[in-house]
Amino acid sequence: MTLSQQNVSFLDEELDIRSPRLIPIISYPHFLESEYKDRIIEMESLGITSIILGGKTIVNGAHIAGKGCVGIVVKAKAGSKLCALKIRRTDADRKTMDNEVRFHKIANSTCIGPNLEGHTKNLIAMELVTGQSIIDWVVGYKATKSKMCSLAAAILEQCFSLDEAGLDHGELSRLTRHVIVSDKPYIIDFESASTTRKTCNVTAAAQSLLLYGIIANKVKKIMGNTDKEKVIQALRTYKHFHTRANFDAILRSLPI
Ligand SMILES: Nc1ncnc2c1ncn2[C@@H]1O[C@H](COP(=O)(O)OP(=O)(O)O)[C@@H](O)[C@H]1O
Ligand SMILES: [Mg+2]
Repeated sequence: MTLSQQNVSFLDEELDIRSPRLIPIISYPHFLESEYKDRIIEMESLGITSIILGGKTIVNGAHIAGKGCVGIVVKAKAGSKLCALKIRRTDADRKTMDNEVRFHKIANSTCIGPNLEGHTKNLIAMELVTGQSIIDWVVGYKATKSKMCSLAAAILEQCFSLDEAGLDHGELSRLTRHVIVSDKPYIIDFESASTTRKTCNVTAAAQSLLLYGIIANKVKKIMGNTDKEKVIQALRTYKHFHTRANFDAILRSLPI
C-alpha cells in the first residue's frame, strides 16, 4: 500500500479544486468572489489539483481535517502527493499567512512541526499528519505507563528544541489543540508564535501535561501521581535558566 493510499480512507471524497461543493470551504466563512478566485489561482501555483473531503470536523456539511480561528485545514493532492492545506479564513485577524510561514520555517529548521511544502498569501501546504489529537490519544487510547511517559518526554524534547531555537509557540498551554500524535508527536500551528517573546514552550507544555487541566488529569491516571512540588520546582529553575541540565531535571520529575 502506498503512503497516499494509507492516508485516504474509503469515506473520503476527492473533488477537483473547482468543484462548486468546495466553494464554502475555500472561501470560509464568507463567500467573496475575488478571494475565492485568488485561492484557486494560488492552489494551481502550488500544483494542487484536488481537495479530499474527509475528517472529523464538519463545515457546512462537509468533513474536513480541522478548523481554527485562522484557517480551515483540508487534505489536498498535488498530482499524486497528499498534503494538508491550511486555507486562511476570510474573517481571520490577519491579511496573509506570511508570519505563520516564517515561524513554521524556523520550527522546521529544528525538525519540529509538519514539513512545510509550499505557501502563498492565503495558503500553507504542509505534510499531512495522520493520527489523533493528543486529547483523543490520551482519552481513547489504552496507553501504558511507559508509552505515556515516552510521549510526554518526546513532546517536552520538542519544546526544548523550540526554546533553544528562540521560537515561542505561544499556545502550548492549550496543548489539546496543538499536538497530533502519529508515529511521533507533531506540534502544529505556529500562527501565534514569536521570536521576540521569552520562550516558554517547555514550561507551558509541562504544565498542560503534568500539572493542570484535562490532559494532566488523564496523564495522572495513566502514570500515577506526579510529585507536583518536584515538577513545579524543576520548572521554576528551568524558567530562570534554560539549560539542558535544568531541562533534564524536568524529565526526571516524570513518574517513570
Ligand atoms: N499538518 C496537519 N495535518 C493534519 N491535520 C492538521 C494539520 N495541521 C492542522 N491540522 C488540523 O487542523 C486544525 C486547525 O489547524 P490550526 O493550524 O490549529 O488552525 P488555526 O491556526 O486556525 O488555529 C488542527 O487542530 C488539526 O486538527
Ligand atoms: Mg490556532
